[in-house]
Amino acid sequence: MRVLLTEEQIRQRVAELGREIARDFLGKTPVLVGILKGSIYFMADLMRHLDIDHEVDFISISSYASGVSSSGTVRMLKDLDRDITGRDVLVVEDIIDSGLSLSYLRKNLLSRNPRSLAIATLLAKEVPRERQIYVDYCGFEIGDDFVIGYGLDYAERFRELRCVAVMEEEDRRRVDEGRCGLERS
Ligand code: IMP
Ligand code: MG
Repeated sequence: MRVLLTEEQIRQRVAELGREIARDFLGKTPVLVGILKGSIYFMADLMRHLDIDHEVDFISISSYASGVSSSGTVRMLKDLDRDITGRDVLVVEDIIDSGLSLSYLRKNLLSRNPRSLAIATLLAKEVPRERQIYVDYCGFEIGDDFVIGYGLDYAERFRELRCVAVMEEEDRRRVDEGRCGLERS
């Protein structure tokens, strides 16, 4: 599999985003809403680069069945633990593809009347979007490849990779057939 973003590139960019967000939210105590499970590393690293008071909550939605394309419908699997009414909310997402998940989530969260709602995503695919989504903070724009690592999975695997790698169709076939030759370094 081809490395798209190295551990060091990700580390530097997340640190930058943390500084930018801290500046923008100075004097506020935002609630960071992580979207499980892909955002776990981005959330953890971002928090440690966010030099202002903040809280963390998680939400879980599903749009992909288990493969590589969106199923078209979004379901809530786990809601927030806390009320976000009147709060400054920052959604923390791993990747935007069709925009379907975030447009659903945005509407859902806005209906709870937060004071503000901003979106941070580590990755955004440069593809024609089904739903136009305004992203406030974006780590990297990438092509229309299927990627894994740094929280992102293929059928629940490879989240633990420290880099972001492109998974070609041939790689996916190998994994599906159980002959996965992933070299871990
Ligand atoms: P969207 O609703 O099409 O924007 O898809 C967003 C969700 O699909 C993300 O939160 C990811 O969980 C998943 N996803 C989209 N593209 C990829 C990818 O290339 N690799 C792994 N997961 C992806
Ligand atoms: Mg996700």
